[in-house]
Formats: sequence, structure tokens, C-alpha cells
Amino acid sequence: MRTNRVAVAALAVGLVAASVTGCSSSKKKSGSSSGSDRGPITVVQGKDNNNVLPDIAALWNKDHPTEKVTFRQQSDSADDQLQDLEQHFQSKDSGYDVVSVDVVWTAEFAAKGWIVPLKDQYNLDTSKLLPATVKSATYNGTLFAAPASSDGGLLYYRKDIIPTPPKTWDELIADCAKKGSVKGCYAGQFANYEGLTVNAAEAINAAGGQIVKEDGKTANVNTPEAAKGLDFLVNGFKQGYIPKEAIGFKEEGSLNAFQDGNLLFLRNWPYADSLLNTNAASKVKGKFDIAPLPGPNGHGASSLGGHNWAIGAFSKHKATALDFLKFAESDEVQKLLINKASLAPVVTSLYSDPTLVSKFPYLPVLLKSIETAVPRPVTPFYPGVTKAIEVNTFAALQGQKSTQQALADMQSAIQSATSG
Ligand code: GLC
Repeated sequence: MRTNRVAVAALAVGLVAASVTGCSSSKKKSGSSSGSDRGPITVVQGKDNNNVLPDIAALWNKDHPTEKVTFRQQSDSADDQLQDLEQHFQSKDSGYDVVSVDVVWTAEFAAKGWIVPLKDQYNLDTSKLLPATVKSATYNGTLFAAPASSDGGLLYYRKDIIPTPPKTWDELIADCAKKGSVKGCYAGQFANYEGLTVNAAEAINAAGGQIVKEDGKTANVNTPEAAKGLDFLVNGFKQGYIPKEAIGFKEEGSLNAFQDGNLLFLRNWPYADSLLNTNAASKVKGKFDIAPLPGPNGHGASSLGGHNWAIGAFSKHKATALDFLKFAESDEVQKLLINKASLAPVVTSLYSDPTLVSKFPYLPVLLKSIETAVPRPVTPFYPGVTKAIEVNTFAALQGQKSTQQALADMQSAIQSATSG
């Protein structure tokens, strides 16, 4: 269990259901069971940054008047979301019918029996989905969640200032000299939470290092390659190509800095695109574009992100929950997610859908980012592993530990975490 987390009570957001009075049937999908395992469901997920949940609720509710969905939103921080889910599962809360599982929580939730294996009567067809997303929802060969939206890291850059995006870290650093009145050059997510693990792992992987060996257990982070990767971030703070305030950035803070015109380059997920283009406060509408993340010798590698829907083990309406999972894989929902929230689809064919590609010209870049993304370690002991990465990276970024010391400490802390 992690300490020092801000306990953020999840906000219950009762979305007004589309009124479907007088509708003759609940349009149950074929093959679903009926009876006591059907009824209204609560779906729990992180903050609805792009305000897409009311549309999803309306779509579902018009066909399911007796099994309506209520979304319960958590905070926008991955750590707070995890803490909320852990607390509710520990108390066997039957009200968490469907939960949004960050790709890095699949193993822990599955191992603890908190989410329902999607097999037998809960079987889910994944044949049209991106393989990386299916893998992220699978633990020990069993599918435990339905891919909802994927996530691959992208480089947002000010095309009005830098017409050609940097491919390498050296090019990015050189471009910083051209920033003119823009206050800061580069930022990602460097606060002490899950996003820091994402950013540290990306830097380490891009430089040819790794966090754990292929077995997913043996720490292998105390290497010259990992040091080269971490140094890109450490030197950023030392030399100033990463602004000081970025040490407090989570996704939202970093997005706000870019949106305010205070950054030349931003590492963030796809959801930022829609907000940067639609937020009333955005000063960068039409002034930015999206490119692959840079690395030491060419494009870098993203950490694989994303969220998958799982059926809560204590739900009393599991048959309805399963139908919701199937509904979430539909082209209709997947298109809604990208069109309204620029969330990366999990349905493979949508990446070559001509209408989407013309609206989101960076879709091929995003697909590549996801397909080449490196998963974070897959282990039921992930909370301990990510903590080891976070605290030691954070200490290095703040200059409290040398890169060498941080990696040596990270190595031993990961090793003891994965030993159980
Ligand atoms: C995004 C990613 C998720 C990651 C989190 C870190 O939500 O989809 O996988 O853990 O960011 O902040």
C-alpha cells in the first residue's frame, strides 16, 4: 500500500439518463442471461477530462431503460484512482459493477480476485482489437478486461515556431534555443506518481535500457543504457531545458503549461489534442502539431498506457456489466471516444478509417506509438515496483541522488518488491 497519497473521494456523477419511458423492452443482447444478475450498473473511472461520458450514458441508456448506467468519476490522477479502487474492492463494494483498469493494474486486480475473468459465460470477442491492448488486459493467459481506450505517448510541438519536429533528444535540446518568448522548452509528467514511472521508463527504454528483464521479475535497471536515459531528464532540470515547475506536473499541469503558451514541447497522451484545440483558454489552437517521441538516436519508445473495463467481482449485475463491456468495443462507442475526446481507439480498423484519418492526421503516428510501446512491468506487485521507480527518479530529478545512486537504489527496491 502506498503512503502519502491524497485521499480523494470519488465524485459520484449521476448522469441524467435519457428518458426512454414507454419503451417496450430492454433490448437484451442475445446470449445474455437474465434475472438477478441484471439491473442498473455503476461504472467507475477517472476524471472525464473531455466530457464524453454523458454521450456514452445516453447511448447506452436509450437501449437499456431497466439497466441504466451511472458513471462515477474519480480524480484525474492515476494514483488516486488506484487508491479508490483498492479501498472499494477491499470492502467488497457491490456498487463497483464496472471499473476502468489502467493497463498496469490488471495483474494486481486479477491476482487478488477483484475482477472477473472474461471466459465461459463472460467470454468476450477480442478478434478486432489491437493486440497490444488485449495483452494489456490479459494476466497469466486469461483475459480480465475489455480494452476501452489505448494510450501512446506523443510529442506535442509548436509548429509555428519549430516547423520540423525533432527526432532526437539532441535535436530537441538544440531547438530550445529557438523558443523566443516561450518560457519553457520541454516537459512531460515529473511529479512523484505513476506518470513519473511512465516518463522515466520511456527515457530508459529509448536509450536501450530496461526496467526488468523479459521474465517481468528480475530488475535490470542499473545499467549504462538506463543511466543515459535517465540523464536526459536529470540534465533537463540541471541545464534548464525542462522548466523547474515541471517537477510538479501531472498530465493536467503539463497540458495547462503548453496550452498557456509556456512550453515549446510537451510529452502527453492523445487526449490532450482535443483539449488543446477546444479549451476556451487554449492559446495554442492551430499552432501545434503531433510527432513521435524523440530518443537518443531517432524516435523513442512510448510506455504503453490505456484503460480497460473490467467487471467488479462483487457486482450483483454482472450480466449487464458484460453487455456494457461489449458495447464499449463497438465502433459507435470507439468513434465517439476519438471524435469527442481524441482517445486512442482499440479497434484496429479505425486507424485506417478515411474519415478519422482526415480528421486526425496523426493517427498513423499514434498507431505506431502504441504498437511499439513498451509495457511497464507486468506483476501483481506492481505498486511496489512503480514506487521504486518513482521515488528514485524523483530524487534524481531533484538532485538529491546521483543518477547512478538512483538506479542502484531502484534496482534493489524493484528486486525486493517483485520478490513479494
Ligand atoms: C494515462 C495512461 C495510464 C498511465 C497514466 C499515468 O492515464 O493511460 O496507463 O498509467 O496516464 O499517469
